Amino acid sequence: MPLIWRIGEGQELTEGCRLPVLLKNGEGWHMAEILGKKEMTGRTLFYVHYEDFNKRLDEWVPEERMDISKMMLPSKEAKTPQKKEGSKAGTGSRPCSPEPIQLTVPMQSDPLDQNSNVPRQTGSMVAHHDDIVTRMKNIEMIELGRYRIKPWYFSPYPQELTSTPIVYICEFCLKYVKSTKCLERHLAKCLLRHPPGNEIYRKTNISFFEIDGRKNKAYAQNLCLLAKMFLDHKTLYYDTDPFLFYVMCELDTFGYHIVGYFSKEKESSEDYNVACILTLPPYQRKGYGKLLIEFSYELSKCEGKTGSPEKPLSDLGLLSYRSYWSQTILEILNNLEPSEGSEQPLITINEISELTSIKKEDVISTLQHLNLINYYKGQYIITLSHEQLKSHEKSMEKRKIRIDPKCLHWQPKDWSKRGKW
Ligand code: ACO
Ligand code: ZN
Repeated sequence: MPLIWRIGEGQELTEGCRLPVLLKNGEGWHMAEILGKKEMTGRTLFYVHYEDFNKRLDEWVPEERMDISKMMLPSKEAKTPQKKEGSKAGTGSRPCSPEPIQLTVPMQSDPLDQNSNVPRQTGSMVAHHDDIVTRMKNIEMIELGRYRIKPWYFSPYPQELTSTPIVYICEFCLKYVKSTKCLERHLAKCLLRHPPGNEIYRKTNISFFEIDGRKNKAYAQNLCLLAKMFLDHKTLYYDTDPFLFYVMCELDTFGYHIVGYFSKEKESSEDYNVACILTLPPYQRKGYGKLLIEFSYELSKCEGKTGSPEKPLSDLGLLSYRSYWSQTILEILNNLEPSEGSEQPLITINEISELTSIKKEDVISTLQHLNLINYYKGQYIITLSHEQLKSHEKSMEKRKIRIDPKCLHWQPKDWSKRGKW
């Protein structure tokens, strides 16, 4: 049975109703679906999802921002509470989840928590469908180091934390608590000033740590919970044993501050070199995403393999990979010397793939996306215009921070020989 809410003059709003909602900053009206309702300080607020917009823009709005006169009742077939991601309800560019989200809450072994009512965890997996609960953001705000960050999506933190205005997270061990007091007590005894695991890269103030999901389970699980607030479309793996986590930090006199990370399966039968990747919002759009991606391909180069990110990619994930692939491939084409006995430089798709560790399919899709492949006198050739080269050079000038392979101290392990990791 859908929920029914009574509003205004006897009008009824049901979960799944669609109606125009006034966008923030008065940027016009946009069709939205109602997913929830709550009372807050005497006001009724509705949780809405804007059709064709990414779910991170979902928000609580008051009745005044809704045009009730244009309300459309939910159509029968699509409106069960257990609706899947990507089903009709205007999920837009967001790819659908391949599986139901796996929910569980990580172990918190800190005795401090016994006073703070954080539920004890069993560590077992509880499978939930992507129901009305997981479709809505459950955490208002987090504080991580010197940043306050508004989450984008649902993340299965303990229920108790969903009713506090701010969840406080230790920026070093990623433990979460419900108040500044609890955080202060925690910080007084938390000795970490960097992620656990080995520092495998450092250049100037940028470091990477490699964390084994089996050896540092609590940290890995806390990292997954934090990441889930910004990753919508992926199944979250709480069994962190099969994964390695590469955490990128910025170093200052106080410690190593987490900027972002990617996870990677110890063994991937599908040649995935990244499972999930994230730049924390305060650091986004500054080139760190591409730095993480570049690092993941440097690891693949050390392994002598080509790799590709796990699918599906998010909208921002696709933008970042497209940009990285384009720049990396154009850089190679730009630096090619004319080959012997020919005026034109010669290179094959396989060679581009080997030089960059970018999987062949991604090289081809990038060349197609850039519209560089032409059919000429019976064969496929790559043609680059002067304008394309100029704009490429300009975009490379903007890419200030780069990975320096000389600063990477890492050797791949053969996980297949290690029995059960
Ligand atoms: N709007 C438009 N373009 C954007 C945006 C945005 N909000 N964010 C990044 N881009 C573009 C940038 O313009 C840039 O391209 P350009 O250099 O050609 O202009 C490119 O994407 C990369 O930008 P970076 O600054 O290097 O990337 P950033 O640090 O912002 O991180 C990331 C990108 C990791 C995808 C980040 O947006 C993020 O963490 N998002 C949430 C989690 C997510 O979606 N992860 C990817 C999931 S797919 C997977 O896990 C395999
Ligand atoms: Zn800590």
